[in-house]
Amino acid sequence: MAQFLANKRILLGMTGSVAAYKSADLVRRLREVGANVRVVMTANAKRFITPLTMQAVSGYPVHDELFDLQAEAAMGHIELARWAELILVAPASADLMARLAYGHADDLLTTLCLASKAPVVLAPAMNQAMYTHVLTQENKRRLKEHGVIVLGTGEGSQACGDVGPGRMLEPLTIIETINELFSTYELAGKKVVITAGPTHEAIDPVRYLTNGSSGKMGYALAEAAALAGAKVVLISGPVALAKPKHMEVISVTTAKEMQDTVFANLSNCDIFISVAAVSDYQAHTIANQKMPKESNAFSLTLTPTPDIVANVAALSNKPFVVGFAAETHDVIPKAKQKRERKKMDMIIANQVGEGRGMGSDENEVTIISARQETTLPLMSKHDLAKELITLIANEYKQGQKHD
Ligand code: C5P
Repeated sequence: MAQFLANKRILLGMTGSVAAYKSADLVRRLREVGANVRVVMTANAKRFITPLTMQAVSGYPVHDELFDLQAEAAMGHIELARWAELILVAPASADLMARLAYGHADDLLTTLCLASKAPVVLAPAMNQAMYTHVLTQENKRRLKEHGVIVLGTGEGSQACGDVGPGRMLEPLTIIETINELFSTYELAGKKVVITAGPTHEAIDPVRYLTNGSSGKMGYALAEAAALAGAKVVLISGPVALAKPKHMEVISVTTAKEMQDTVFANLSNCDIFISVAAVSDYQAHTIANQKMPKESNAFSLTLTPTPDIVANVAALSNKPFVVGFAAETHDVIPKAKQKRERKKMDMIIANQVGEGRGMGSDENEVTIISARQETTLPLMSKHDLAKELITLIANEYKQGQKHD
């Protein structure tokens, strides 16, 4: 049990609730499964349990002030936000849920929740009337919509004498739930930028150069990455697909626009997955009026578009770069050459044609990196995306270890 939590850096936030007494046991049990815990307490949390107790069980001084010069000198709030791989707020009061739901940063805990890229998990604890109040339920829905994980509550008698939902889950249940949630969260806290679909390169106001890419593979990968816990930015060429949820989707038209948008979104990007079938050429000049039909053959001057994936891979602080190679023949040798030429960490090669690859619902691919060559059988792009995200996450983590 608890393999996800082993060696994880967990920031435990505590707010004002009588359930705060359970947090000491929670820290002890988190440490037992190998987690490294730092505690942040709000002013009201300190009315229920002392920072000294939490310091003793966590082994580190408690963080409680946003504007404390001494604390900032030791481990500033931004450093603490970066340190955390998971923020667990237990107990989470109705007030904390309300403040977080509306993006407040008026104390250290809410500031850390906003400043950190780590996933945030709340274990609510409050009186049953407060918990079932329509505003608390509305805040809970809003938090979930924005990616915050809100755990359930226990039911039973409460400190105030009421009976109902709102009791904080027991420490062991919290640990088991988090472990289960995150064992499949291979990309928790990572930022992934994905390009998908074709590009359109205008020739005149009504005509353009493009290809048969549907965007299905890129969209499936974006959804799988979001399900794996990543913060996803999907940069999409013109496609006829519904906008996926739980990610930022930016629509672009041309290769140039796609490259500009990719570069504008690269800060803090951990993994770049270039799935888009970017047009390799663009018209040298775009006619500003519809070109008349010619009765004879005519030629069009084309110039190359920017090679987005190669330009990203050439950056000194590049993310982990994954590209695709759709080929009609000599698939593997060509993909290997392409990976090396464009300096990609990983390339996903597939044969196109005969109902496979571009535009179809299924794909059969070979994944090539410096360390491996793995061929996956023909399967739906949806299932394939999940497998690819696991392979990409593993390879990315291997790379991190060797850096
Ligand atoms: O050279 P080729 O187009 O086959 O390379 C395919 C890979 O390069 C894909 O990952 C594709 O997204 C990327 N690419 C790009 N910019 C281009 C052309 C291709 O990022 N202009």
